[in-house]
Amino acid sequence: MTALAASVVLCGRLSVRACLPYYCAVELFRVTGGTRLVGEVTVGGAKNSVLKLMAAALLAEGRTVLTNAPRILDVTIMSEVLRRLGCTVTIEGDAITIDTPAEPGTEADYDLVRRMRASINVLGPLLARRGEVRVAHPGGDAIGSRGLDYHIAGLKRMGADITSEHGFVIARAERLHGATIWLDFPSVGATENLLMAAVLAKGTTVIDNAAREPEIVDICAMLTEMGARIYGAGTSTLEIEGVDALSPVTHRTVPDRIVTGTWAFAAAITRGDVTVRNSEPSHLEIALDELTTAGADVELFGPCEGFRVRMDDRPRAVDVVTLPYPGYATDLLPMAIALAAVADGPSMITENVFDARFMFTNEMVRLGADVRTDGHHAVVRGKEWLSGAPVRATDIRAGVGLVMAGLRAEGVTEVADVFHIDRGYPGFIEQMRSLGAEIERVTVPDDTMALDF
Ligand code: UD1
Repeated sequence: MTALAASVVLCGRLSVRACLPYYCAVELFRVTGGTRLVGEVTVGGAKNSVLKLMAAALLAEGRTVLTNAPRILDVTIMSEVLRRLGCTVTIEGDAITIDTPAEPGTEADYDLVRRMRASINVLGPLLARRGEVRVAHPGGDAIGSRGLDYHIAGLKRMGADITSEHGFVIARAERLHGATIWLDFPSVGATENLLMAAVLAKGTTVIDNAAREPEIVDICAMLTEMGARIYGAGTSTLEIEGVDALSPVTHRTVPDRIVTGTWAFAAAITRGDVTVRNSEPSHLEIALDELTTAGADVELFGPCEGFRVRMDDRPRAVDVVTLPYPGYATDLLPMAIALAAVADGPSMITENVFDARFMFTNEMVRLGADVRTDGHHAVVRGKEWLSGAPVRATDIRAGVGLVMAGLRAEGVTEVADVFHIDRGYPGFIEQMRSLGAEIERVTVPDDTMALDF
C-alpha cells in the first residue's frame, strides 16, 4: 500500500493539499454581524452600461473615451476582449480610452466569453463593421439558461447568415439591411446587440418590445453622439435609420442603479441611515417605493443628487415582483430576499426574468433564513436575527445579498468566491467599512479539492 493510500484509509478524509507540493488560495469576505450601516457612499458608473459602451467603441475607428467608468473586474475582462480584437485600451482613474483600428479582429473566444457573458455584445458591432464575426457561445450560468436566440433571430432578419459550429456562433453579412424585429421578451442584451448592428445597416430597423432600461437609454445617447439616428430610446419601440459611418466620442457612463439600490437595501436591512450620492433615484422608483412600504424613510435630493434611506425599526414584510424596467430589477432580488429574511412577517418574492435566480437561496438558508421556493415564487418568513455561517457567492448579486444578510446575522459569516462581487462593486469593502460594517477580505487555502468518502 502506498503512503497516500494508507493515509486515506487511516483518516477517511484526505485533503489533496496535504499531498501536493502547492495549492490554490481563495478570497472570502468575513463579516461580523450586528452593525447598523451609517454614513455616505458615492456610486460610480453602471457596470451593465459601461461594458456595452466599450463594445460600441468598436463601431468607429479612432479614440473613444468613457468617463465615470467603474473600476471593476468586468471592465478589465472587457478591456482584454477589445485588446484581442486589436484595440488599445488604457484605464486612468474613472476614464477608459479605447483606440479602435480601421479593421478590428473578428473573434471573441470562449476563454473570455465564459468569464463574462457581456463579451457577446461584440457580436452586433463587429458584424456591422467587419461583415463577419465568431463569438463563443456563453452557455448558461448560475442565474439561468440565458439564450442567444433573440440576438440570432434579429440579426437573421437583418440579413445575416448565422451558424453554430464547435461552440461558436458564426455570423456573416456583406451589409446588414433594415428590418422589423419583434422581441418575445424585452431582452437587454438582444436589444443592445441589435441596436449596435442596426446603426450601420442599410435602411431603417424597428425593434419592437425593446428593453427600456436606463442602460439602453445610455447606449442610445452615446450612439447618437457618434452620429447614429435612433428614435424612441427609453420606450419599447426603437427606430434606427442606418448610417454609413460613425465617429468616436467622449461619453459619461450613467450611474449604477443596481449598486445604488444595494446601498438603499443595506440601510434598510441593518436598520441604518445611508446617503447615496451620484445616483439617479428616478431609475429606482419601484425599489425605493418597496423600501418605503417596508417602513424606511426615503428622502430624495433631486436628479443625479442621490437620496437618503433611514430605517429605525424592524422592516415590515413586503411582497416583491421582478420585471423588466421600469419594474423591480431582477438584479436586486437577492437584496429583497435578505430584507425579507429579517422583516416582520412573511413576504412573497416573485422572479419573472431568470429561471434559476433562486438557486442562491440555499446559501441564505445556511444563514438561518426561512426561505421556501416553488418555481418562480419564494416565500420568506422573516426572523429578528439570522445566524452567521460559511456560505458561497454564486453570482455577483447573490454574493452581495449574502453579505447584507451576514450584517444582520449573529456571529461571523464568511462569504466565499468573492471574485463575483469584485466583478461589479468597486471598492466594496472600503465603502462597507466607511459605513461602519465589520468586514474584511481574507485569503485562505482552497479546500475544494478535499476528498470525501
Ligand atoms: C442583462 C444584465 C443583467 C440583468 C438582465 C435583466 C448585463 C451585463 N447584464 O443581462 O445583470 O439581470 O439584463 O435585466 O447587462 N433571453 C432569451 N433569449 C435571448 C436573450 C434573452 O431567452 O436571446 C432570456 C434570458 O434567458 C432571460 C431573459 O431573456 O431569461 C432576460 O435576459 P436579458 O434581458 O437578455 O439579460 P442579459 O442581457 O443577459
